[in-house]
Amino acid sequence: MRLECRAGWPDTGRMEEPDLFSLPRPASSGADARIRFLRAELERHNRLYYTKAAPEISDADYDRLFRELETLEATHPEFADPDSPTLRVGGEPIEGFRQIQHEVPMLSIDDVFELTPEVARASATGRAEQELVEFYQRLRKGLGRSDITVTVEPKIDGVAVSLMYRDGRLAYAATRGDGTTGDDITHNVRTIRSIPLKLDRETPSAGGTPADGIPRVLEVRGEIFMPNEAFAAMNEERDEEGQPTFANPRNATAGTLKQLDPKVVAKRPLAFLAHGIGAYDGERLTDEHAFHDLLDALGIPRNGPVIVARDLDELIEAVDRINQHRHTLDHGTDGAVVKVVDYGERQSLGFTSRAPRWAAAYKFLPEQKETLLEDITIQVGRTGVLTPVAALKPVLISGSTVSRATLHNQDEIDRKGIHIGATVLVEKAGEIIPAVVKVVHPAKHAAAFSIVDHVGGRCPSCGGPITQEEGFVAWRCTNFQCPAQAVTRISHFSSRKALDIEGVGGTVADALVRRNLCTTPLDLFDLSADALADLNLGTDESPRRFGTKNAAKVCVALDDARKLPLHRWLFAMGIRHVGESASKELARLHDDLTSLAGSPVLAELASDTRSDAKKKNELLARHSISGDVGPAVAESVTTFFASDAGKEVLRRMHALGLNPKSANHRPQSADGPLTGKSFVITGTLTIDRDAMKDLIEANGGRVSGSISAKTDYLLAGEGGGSKREKADQMGVPVIGEEEIRRWIEHS
Ligand code: IVH
Repeated sequence: MRLECRAGWPDTGRMEEPDLFSLPRPASSGADARIRFLRAELERHNRLYYTKAAPEISDADYDRLFRELETLEATHPEFADPDSPTLRVGGEPIEGFRQIQHEVPMLSIDDVFELTPEVARASATGRAEQELVEFYQRLRKGLGRSDITVTVEPKIDGVAVSLMYRDGRLAYAATRGDGTTGDDITHNVRTIRSIPLKLDRETPSAGGTPADGIPRVLEVRGEIFMPNEAFAAMNEERDEEGQPTFANPRNATAGTLKQLDPKVVAKRPLAFLAHGIGAYDGERLTDEHAFHDLLDALGIPRNGPVIVARDLDELIEAVDRINQHRHTLDHGTDGAVVKVVDYGERQSLGFTSRAPRWAAAYKFLPEQKETLLEDITIQVGRTGVLTPVAALKPVLISGSTVSRATLHNQDEIDRKGIHIGATVLVEKAGEIIPAVVKVVHPAKHAAAFSIVDHVGGRCPSCGGPITQEEGFVAWRCTNFQCPAQAVTRISHFSSRKALDIEGVGGTVADALVRRNLCTTPLDLFDLSADALADLNLGTDESPRRFGTKNAAKVCVALDDARKLPLHRWLFAMGIRHVGESASKELARLHDDLTSLAGSPVLAELASDTRSDAKKKNELLARHSISGDVGPAVAESVTTFFASDAGKEVLRRMHALGLNPKSANHRPQSADGPLTGKSFVITGTLTIDRDAMKDLIEANGGRVSGSISAKTDYLLAGEGGGSKREKADQMGVPVIGEEEIRRWIEHS
């Protein structure tokens, strides 16, 4: 349930765990009361976990309470609440971002000074940074006093966001945008569990204030970011799944917040820390300390550490302390922010047109070191991309030893003039990922480094051919059988939208390859149930068996896959440029794999010599080919099936008796055990609904969306209330998944 990284936090496993399930139930009985109790209790634990880093219960107990609430809510839809903690997993996707006009402009900071690590060190020994002194002088002049109290805190390297609470409820969340108008990102922000959806005070506010001490309006400004460790873990997982990785936590955060589908966002480890205030209507706040106290009382996580400095010397020291301390934080920081503490003083200092006069920011430049680039090795990634990696003479940067750095691709190498033997400047981008900034001393008689020459034009992993597609910088190994890509290919082949072989994800694919049971996806069809059951997912020292039950499920899924239509198989093959839509269009144009492999239309479309652009357009029009298939797709498909790897795939499939047919071309009523039967699907099945639809259609049946007089059967999984009722009313027989499978198997 909980996604954020918990580095440095108490180990819940060692905690005393109160038995929550025997706790006295709230006074008023019934589902309503229990639901309210569970919601409040789960949010309280969220707060203890995320804001206070002091959890009281284990993750397992949290999950049990969560599931109890989920079940109660499902059986009592009348008590639905959009703010329920169960809805933090993300609602429906949105169409686009609404715009939100900020009540108070979201300004930036004008006074931004850059501080190199060298200057930072110098300032610690007494040589003040000139700009910092000048900023402080301006404060003195503006306020007519010599010592002004300021705070210094880390500048979080994240994405600025504004959270608007009205009467204690999160009304909306918006990005900064142009400062006046931003994007409404409420749907995404609601998935971040450290952000309270409802405010409540832990301790009553001092001095007898409005009813419960919750401000009528409270706009909190802060940053959304990804904690370093969680970011690293997410990137690793993405890499394993063959998805592109993010360059740094900031990019990952920005990219995530731009998502239209909150379910995607809910799976990403985002966090939030408050650092400022926008619109406000509540108990008077006289200074920053009162604001911080308010945030703490309301359980809104805030930025820290905040160091108070009462004069210029303390300020200089505080900036230096933040610089020293920031490496211990679990998120990226790119500087320090200095703010006047007293709100009255802030008001008299006022604003320029873009920024407050009472704040300044320091940007810490990343530490850089020179070192020798000893060698360049080429890695074959799981998607076949050849990545050059620099082997560096080890050097200590920002607290750790750096000996390798990715050089990204040939363009990057050319642009920076990188070659073996050069002395290069190295830094840690975003303070975590080592990067070569530039060449400082070229090697004598240095030859420019070429990836292709270095690997002799062949994949360093399998010796297969490599290509550089038009418009792409990356060189890529195109061998379907390349061992470096085996894991990605197998997990893609088995993924939901491909052949939906449930159970064969990254971990299993990895084990299959590691244990030499598979080198290509088609090897899956040669596995015996016993071999699968015995598959060791763990290490030799601590083995973990895949198990008989799981193995049996995979065997069923593999059997189902045999009957899936051509487009699913095409997509599963992971041919470059052949995504879901292109697969469907290709399958619409061809009967089966053999006709696709020898397709004259694709050959013509792909060739760049025989026909020009006009002819290609005519060809597309003549066959009414949609935009999903063009010369790039055609080229990729024809190259694949003409290659040794492609021919081998056809040969293997033939030997395995696999001959997927296009769903379009096969007359549905002619063959198949479900011919002439019409189905409607409802509820949760063991396989994806699309997959079930394909399975039914592949066996001659038809699937429609709603029950009518023409419906023969309602195929119902778990749940699916209203359609069941309708089926009962109309006398349509309700069947389960096993029945369908039995009909197909016994045909
Ligand atoms: S206070 C009126 N405090 O950096 C602006 N900002 O370059 C007062 N930022 O717009 C901003 N950490 O998005 C403040 N601890 C912090 C911050 C912080 C990051 C961002 C913020 C701001 C930008 C200024």
